[in-house]
Amino acid sequence: MQDLGNWTPSSWRARPALQLPAYADDGALRAAEQRLATLPALIFPGEIAQLRTRLGAVARGEAFLLQGGDCAESFDEVGQDAVESTFRVILQMAVVLTYAAACPVVKLGRIAGQFAKPRSSDSETVDGTTLPSYRGDIVNGSAFSAAARLPDPARLLTAYAHSTTTLNQLRALAQGGFADLHEVHRWTADFVRTSPQGARFAELADRITESLGFMEACGFDAARTPQLHAVEFYTSHEALHLHYEQALTRHDARSGRWYGGSAHMLWLGERTRQLEGAHIEYLRGIDNPVGVKLGPNAAADDVLRLLDRLDPDNQPGRSVLISRMGSDKVAERLPPLLRAVRRAGRTPVWCCDPMHGNTVTASNGYKTRDFERILGEMRGFFSAHAQEGTYAGGLHFEMTGQDVTECRGGAQALSDEGLASRYRSACDPRLNGSQSLELAFQIADVLKAARA
Ligand code: TRP
Ligand code: MN
Repeated sequence: MQDLGNWTPSSWRARPALQLPAYADDGALRAAEQRLATLPALIFPGEIAQLRTRLGAVARGEAFLLQGGDCAESFDEVGQDAVESTFRVILQMAVVLTYAAACPVVKLGRIAGQFAKPRSSDSETVDGTTLPSYRGDIVNGSAFSAAARLPDPARLLTAYAHSTTTLNQLRALAQGGFADLHEVHRWTADFVRTSPQGARFAELADRITESLGFMEACGFDAARTPQLHAVEFYTSHEALHLHYEQALTRHDARSGRWYGGSAHMLWLGERTRQLEGAHIEYLRGIDNPVGVKLGPNAAADDVLRLLDRLDPDNQPGRSVLISRMGSDKVAERLPPLLRAVRRAGRTPVWCCDPMHGNTVTASNGYKTRDFERILGEMRGFFSAHAQEGTYAGGLHFEMTGQDVTECRGGAQALSDEGLASRYRSACDPRLNGSQSLELAFQIADVLKAARA
């Protein structure tokens, strides 16, 4: 078993911690942390072990990881629809990939806890007024007022409550019949049904329904095959708010290990992955699968040292490297990292985030992303792996099941002018339901070719 040295759930506090809010009232922060520490973990150790096993299969090239959801969740989205619509699109994408590439798909949401955002500046100035930056609903409010922007520790408890509600809904959707393969036709949202991707999906759904009918006519007993009726669905978020993460850290008496109880998988962004920083210190001690984002300036040496720190025993399924190079840099920057990691005998899961390296500002001021560049980075990721003899294991993307207009292009040919009609993201631009499905068909073609 991994030797944690002098690690404790609070050992991160002795390290430089970036991107954490400055709370005015220490006592209120401590009270919120103590309250969280008495509440049940959202996730249980057996589930984490199961996800590690699934990601181990990805690391060996036997499965594919699909990780997606909002850039940032919001406390205001409380209805049934927000989670359900995202979930159904992830199911649709998963079924496209599973069918086309005949490859098991690990379904992982950026959901039920994705509330904290790193910011490039501590403050924001509008018309001469300077206020603290919005750091996600777990910290403060996005409205530009002194009251909203004041970091409020009570939000830690709201984040926990909100995550509980979302997770409960996800568990019901995953296990309660909604995800049954016999229901494949019902996952398509109305606005997607009428699109070219909707038609393509309906054809695939027909084939699945036909195959199930054929197998059942041959005597195959679907009722006795639980795999057909449910999916394993896992949660993840950026492990930015360490007070929150520490308060939900639990000891598992059975295995003798510590685990993060806020989500199945946690990752760190480019801004908080300093080797000697607080965030890496926290992550190294928990047993969950952990991810690190790698941008175009990541050096091969840094990546190897991060793996030494986070995954000293090189366990398949423990570490996920998420590259986000930008479509114009992936061909140059990714191969040296793949080569160095392979030569070091390392087998992390390699995952591609084709979103964050491809964010631009449209002529009318909207933050957006081009569908073609997203696709371009995804293709570059697969080529780099083919070139280096490593396995392109997964995709990480920002999407919603709703009919938003935030990313340009795709079969809908969304233009700058079109962005204004339903731009709802409080943070980064997301793919909408039909763009996500379109992306899945494209990935399926690449994955099929790569596996052939
Ligand atoms: N349980 C299997 C899986 O997750 C098959 C399955 C059931 C499935 N419902 C699904 C696959 C929905 C994709 C989408 O792979
Ligand atoms: Mn984002």
